[in-house]
Amino acid sequence: MITLGVETSCDETSFSVVRNGREILSNAVTSSLREHRRFGGVVPEIASRVHLETGLACLEAALKKAKVGLKDVDLIAVTRGPGLMGSLLVGLAAAKTLSWTLDKPLVGVDHVIAHLYAGVMQDTELRFPFLGLVISGGHTLLVRVDSPADFKILGSTIDDAAGEAFDKVAKILGLRYPGGPEIDRLSRGQKTNRFHFTRPILSKDSLDFSFSGLKTAVYTTVERLKKTGGLTPSVKRQVATAFQESVCEVLVQKSLSAAASQGLRSLVVGGGVSANSRLRSLLTKAAKAEHVRVVFPDASLCQDNAAMIAGLGTALYKRGRRDSLALEAYADFLQHHQLAHKTMAYRRSKKQRNYGNPA
Ligand code: KG4
Ligand code: ZN
Repeated sequence: MITLGVETSCDETSFSVVRNGREILSNAVTSSLREHRRFGGVVPEIASRVHLETGLACLEAALKKAKVGLKDVDLIAVTRGPGLMGSLLVGLAAAKTLSWTLDKPLVGVDHVIAHLYAGVMQDTELRFPFLGLVISGGHTLLVRVDSPADFKILGSTIDDAAGEAFDKVAKILGLRYPGGPEIDRLSRGQKTNRFHFTRPILSKDSLDFSFSGLKTAVYTTVERLKKTGGLTPSVKRQVATAFQESVCEVLVQKSLSAAASQGLRSLVVGGGVSANSRLRSLLTKAAKAEHVRVVFPDASLCQDNAAMIAGLGTALYKRGRRDSLALEAYADFLQHHQLAHKTMAYRRSKKQRNYGNPA
């Protein structure tokens, strides 16, 4: 079975051809990152326009690399959310057009769950259920994944996402966007540190995150250093390291307590922040001590890409999922899934009431 994946949720345009849900024949990705850099963040209007400009060439590249034609495609899988609405609509329109003209089924996929499904595609030994940690510019989530179609949100950030915190702190330190890789690079090999920021844990049992206080603490420290002329390159490095240490420790601690409380022995880490070298070493070591297996998908499956969309789309299709051309996009992960959950619970309770009262 040949699935064509379509991903345009943020600044990456991607088309991918995947055979039987696992074998990645191609995974073409282009990005408008450079166009956003001078604005210090992704500009939605620019992102959607670039998807339109580069989409067709990206699709052609994916088909060419995979050595397949559109006639060989059996299924179209597309990201329907979360993401930037204008960007999502470009991919959705493309996928619907392909589905309609080729007369092939369409399946809409959640981008966040697809980041975790990338772990399933990469690691043949990984089994459901597993714990997922999604850490990106827009999300910080702990999710129990029971199957490609069933998951439960265990915790999320109550303010900034982890990647957002990296980007904002980088800006405070005068580093370029995106800030995560910059802070990662600056902190490498940094041993001693005169700075220490508190670990935002919230309460002992909470699996929620909060990074905005930490960002403010960095801001206050940097402002104080600027006033005394003490923000030298080496001091900047130490501040960056102390910030990164705090974020990584919280992510490790909460992930492992979620795994323990859910009785899960595997952890998949997805999203851009999973590339962080300090997080990788801290988490790998701490998880090993707790007998938890950690899967970090490879860089090509870690960044935003359409192969993970095609993979999850195929799995959902095999479980009977079919979407119509009326498929809608959604911008917000929590809002969409909590609303869907409430609607289902409401329908269930209504059904029960009706059973109770056949009249
Ligand atoms: O998943 P992603 O590529 O895009 C979305 O947000 O959907 O994640 C981008 C985020 C940015 O905030 C970026 O600064 C962060 O991931 N990031 C990193 C690293 N590489 C990317 N954060 C920390 N360390 C890194 N090495
Ligand atoms: Zn993403």
